[in-house]
Amino acid sequence: MTQHDRSPRGRFITFEGIDGAGKSSQIAATVALLQAHGIDVDQSREPGGTSLGERLRALLLHEAMHLETEAMLMFAARREHLAARIEPALVAGRWVVCDRFSDATFAYQVGGRGLAREKFDALEHWVHPDLQPDLTLLFDLPPEIAAARVAATGADPDRFEREQRDFFERVREAYLQRARHAPHRIRVVDANRAQDVIRADIERIVRETVLA
Ligand code: TYD
Repeated sequence: MTQHDRSPRGRFITFEGIDGAGKSSQIAATVALLQAHGIDVDQSREPGGTSLGERLRALLLHEAMHLETEAMLMFAARREHLAARIEPALVAGRWVVCDRFSDATFAYQVGGRGLAREKFDALEHWVHPDLQPDLTLLFDLPPEIAAARVAATGADPDRFEREQRDFFERVREAYLQRARHAPHRIRVVDANRAQDVIRADIERIVRETVLA
C-alpha cells in the first residue's frame, strides 16, 4: 500500500458540560451535519462505548465507591474504548463523535470530587499519552439552570445527578479552567440559549475548525 492509498486519519470530536447542559440533541445535529458532508461518523459515549465500558458505566453511575476507584474505572473504561473502538475508527478514516472524554474526568473527579491533579495527569498520560480530541465543544451554563433541566426530565437521578449545586459549581469551574489552557481545542458554547441558536453556533465552529 502506498502512502496515497491510505485513508486520512479521522477526526475526534467530543462534547462536554455539566449534567443538564443539553448536549444530546446537539450531538445528534452535529452527527447529521457531518454525515451530510459525506463523512463516516461513529457516535459514542463515556463512560461506555463498548460492552465492557457499558457495564463499568452501570457501576460508576449507581454504586458508591472511593473517588480514586471512580477515577481509575473511568480511565479503565476509556482504555477499552480507545483500543476497541476510537483508535480503529480514526485509523480507518472514520470520525468519532463522543459524549464526554477525559475533560469530564478532569472536571468531575478533580474539580468536583477533589482527586489529586497529579493522579489525573498520570492516568491520562498512561491511557492516552498522544491523543486529544481535535475539537471539544464545552456546553457552559449556570448549575441551577442545568439542575432544573435534569429535574424536568422526571428520570431517576444517578449518583452524579444527585450531587448538590456546589459540586456542579466546581465541575463547571474546572471545565472552564481546562478550556483556558487549551483554547484552540476546547470551544466554550453558551448553553443557556435557544436550541436553534446553539445549533447554529456549533455548526459555525465545526465549519471553521474540523471541516475547514
Ligand atoms: P451523561 O454523559 O451525562 O449521560 P446521561 O445524559 O445519560 O446522564 O452521564 C455520565 C455521568 O458520568 C455524568 O454525570 C458525568 C460523569 N462522568 C464523570 O464523572 N467522569 C468521567 O470521566 C465521565 C466520562 C463521566
